[in-house]
Amino acid sequence: MKFLRMQDLDLKNKRVLIREDLNVPMAGEKISDETRILAALPTIQHALEAGAAVMVISHLGRPKEGEPDPKFSLAPVAARLEQLLGQKVTFVDNWLDGVALKPGEICVGENVRFNVGEQGNDDALAKRMARLCDLFVMDAFGTAHRAQASTEGITRFAPLACAGPLLAAELDALSQAFQAPKRPLVAIVGGSKVSTKLSVLESLIEQVDQLIVGGGIANTFIAASGEPVGASLYEPELLDLAKKLMTKAAEKGTQIPIPVDVVVANKIAASAEVTIKSVAEIGADDRIVDIGPDSIAIISKLIKQAGTVIWNGPVGIFEYPEFAVGTEALALAIAESQAFSVAGGGDTLAAINQFGIKEKVSYISTGGGAFLEFLEGKTLPAVAALERHVNP
Ligand code: 3PG
Repeated sequence: MKFLRMQDLDLKNKRVLIREDLNVPMAGEKISDETRILAALPTIQHALEAGAAVMVISHLGRPKEGEPDPKFSLAPVAARLEQLLGQKVTFVDNWLDGVALKPGEICVGENVRFNVGEQGNDDALAKRMARLCDLFVMDAFGTAHRAQASTEGITRFAPLACAGPLLAAELDALSQAFQAPKRPLVAIVGGSKVSTKLSVLESLIEQVDQLIVGGGIANTFIAASGEPVGASLYEPELLDLAKKLMTKAAEKGTQIPIPVDVVVANKIAASAEVTIKSVAEIGADDRIVDIGPDSIAIISKLIKQAGTVIWNGPVGIFEYPEFAVGTEALALAIAESQAFSVAGGGDTLAAINQFGIKEKVSYISTGGGAFLEFLEGKTLPAVAALERHVNP
């Protein structure tokens, strides 16, 4: 990928506008997970230390444009950034008309999605943003799959536009996992529904040596292979697609391993009674909530033999400790493996934190949707705009 990188540019005395993805989960005014703020910190610190006047912008949640709603305010994020940086961070409501900042000073602008035209990638809005800077730094990997005024549009109008270190590191790590992967390349795709990850599965089956499915997604594959799933969540309308993917895998001389045993519960609750059953024994009222020990052993072996592992999504309802054994074992297998490992997606990050393997994954992506779109082989519009900026 050919684009300018912030580290290669002189930032001294420049007005630098940085688009971060500070879309963090909130519980009221409290930030419940600050991973994305911490990931953005080195970029911001670098710009400040290099003598730039720094304006940081981001979205938070999905507010209605033109209707600023305190629930979606970035004020708590700005306050946390001030603590982390150990310097004054000015929070600005109406930043589109410009903010007077000296080199070494920083402000955070209110939610970009309060502005009408942001999500429609309105040119007039993008131009207003572009006028605020000498250099636009796109660092929001998590939002790079959105062609919006503050991600794609602004790149077309800014005097100079480059990738920030976080965006560049994300793209470098994901490219390493995909473009020249150490083989076998193993992808684990878990989560509740095949339908939300349809194109990811279709694209991965072409590229990986081994595709492992988990969670509700695996239930649809269990049903497609003619086994019972009882009262478990699955998608009957996608049985044919699951069969097609299994045939594809077979044609490549591999297979999508369907769980051989599972943990079933009578309800999805902490108080549920759990039983380990072989797949053939699943009863009409059983709900699959996790994979069983034999399935764990099969998956762990595949991960141990892998050269590269890509992980998105849990294999059980790990939010409940009773149903978390499979996802924990998977996390530990990845942590112990010598493979280059890349993980991404909200649930996956939560699992990584819960099982304390953060230091043992080669690269943890801050992207959710963007991570999946990269896996699908799609061009991320904000990255394409950075490339066009250099090579129109
Ligand atoms: C995310 O959380 O995946 C990104 O911040 C993008 O958010 P969006 O799906 O609301 O555009």
